[in-house]
Amino acid sequence: MDLMEYQAKDLFAKHGVPVLPGSVAETSEQARRTAEEIGGQVVVKAQVKTGGRGKAGGVKLAENPAESEEKAEAILGMDIKGHTVHRVLVTQASDIAEEYYVSYLLDRANRTFLAMASVEGGVEIEQLAVERPEALAKIPVDPLAGVDAAKAAEIADAAGFGADVRDQVIDVLQTLWTVFTSEDATLVEVNPLVKTPDGKIVALDGKVSLDENAEFRQEDHAAFEDKAAADPLEARAKEKNLNYVKLDGEVGIIGNGAGLVMSTLDVVAYAGEDFGGVKPANFLDIGGGASAEVMANGLEIILSDPAVKSVFVNVFGGITACDAVANGIVHAFDLLEKRGDDVSKPLVVRLDGNNADEGRRILSEFAASAADGVIEQVDTMDGAARRAAELAAAK
Ligand SMILES: Nc1ncnc2c1ncn2[C@@H]1O[C@H](COP(=O)(O)OP(=O)(O)OP(=O)(O)O)[C@@H](O)[C@H]1O
Ligand SMILES: [Mg+2]
Repeated sequence: MDLMEYQAKDLFAKHGVPVLPGSVAETSEQARRTAEEIGGQVVVKAQVKTGGRGKAGGVKLAENPAESEEKAEAILGMDIKGHTVHRVLVTQASDIAEEYYVSYLLDRANRTFLAMASVEGGVEIEQLAVERPEALAKIPVDPLAGVDAAKAAEIADAAGFGADVRDQVIDVLQTLWTVFTSEDATLVEVNPLVKTPDGKIVALDGKVSLDENAEFRQEDHAAFEDKAAADPLEARAKEKNLNYVKLDGEVGIIGNGAGLVMSTLDVVAYAGEDFGGVKPANFLDIGGGASAEVMANGLEIILSDPAVKSVFVNVFGGITACDAVANGIVHAFDLLEKRGDDVSKPLVVRLDGNNADEGRRILSEFAASAADGVIEQVDTMDGAARRAAELAAAK
């Protein structure tokens, strides 16, 4: 999960990385009040999860509270690379003597953590890395050893920090490492880290990505989630621990195994071309050992999506044999009917693999007795995709 700058800075402040006073505002009125509290010059900064905000006009200096209201007015609602600005950070303005860059990240290719630092910060670091790679120090960090004073000094010296700021930078590097590890981050970046004219080091910007796999031990992190921005179906699926992604088509998709589901999306989109451009409505992988409950939860989410006109259940029986999956679907229907959910949208099921014959028999029996006209079976993946697209188009 990527954090916004103000959230990243809250984490910085919590661990003792020097930041300037500021607070987030959702209206220009609020921005003015925050500027009044801070006093003096402030900077109004768009809070969006994309880079290059300054260049896009999303970072503006304001001389006084009235101007801060004006700048906030201009920035709120702005579109920055497809992200609409709903919040601004109003923060104290700082004079800048020098701009630096520091970051920690997960270096997947080398299976280690990596520290990067440069005394030529402020600019886009990707550009610096290409144009003047010698100006960007890259130091691997052993995850077990971490960053102590000696390691921080190694990083600072590799980047060439001056003697006047070296000690402060070493401190900041150690504290940022604490942020990185204790918050289970995969990225902590400060660009720019600045030296003020009176020689103080401050983080003027902050970028943090948190590892969602660590959610179980980071209860505080749930507060960072932008619930308003999340799709309501995705939010409900997440509560039910489903691997669900909302897409913008009409054919609901359920499959077992991410690879199978990905190719199901492809065949449905392909088949849909013959029916006026019908497309998959979602990605949903119910995993290997899908129980009736998981199947029911998945069906519930998909059937409650008003965009869904038909559903394609594509299952390849492996360790979980097809008869178990078929029973899962039958039980899922029972569960949904008991919950009072509407189960009238057409369902095309393709079962193949381990015990496919028995699975198909169970489903045909159920379709004939209880789910007449709702469940159809097609033996091949392409054929089932085509039928599901056809049904969606006919609705
Ligand atoms: N509080 C501040 N006081 C003075 N100048 C600031 C302040 N915050 C930012 N700036 C100036 O604005 C520039 C851009 O700000 P910042 O780094 O936060 O955004 P950005 O780099 O444009 O966005 P991103 O980091 O998302 O790419 C900084 O390099 C700095 O020169
Ligand atoms: Mg920046």
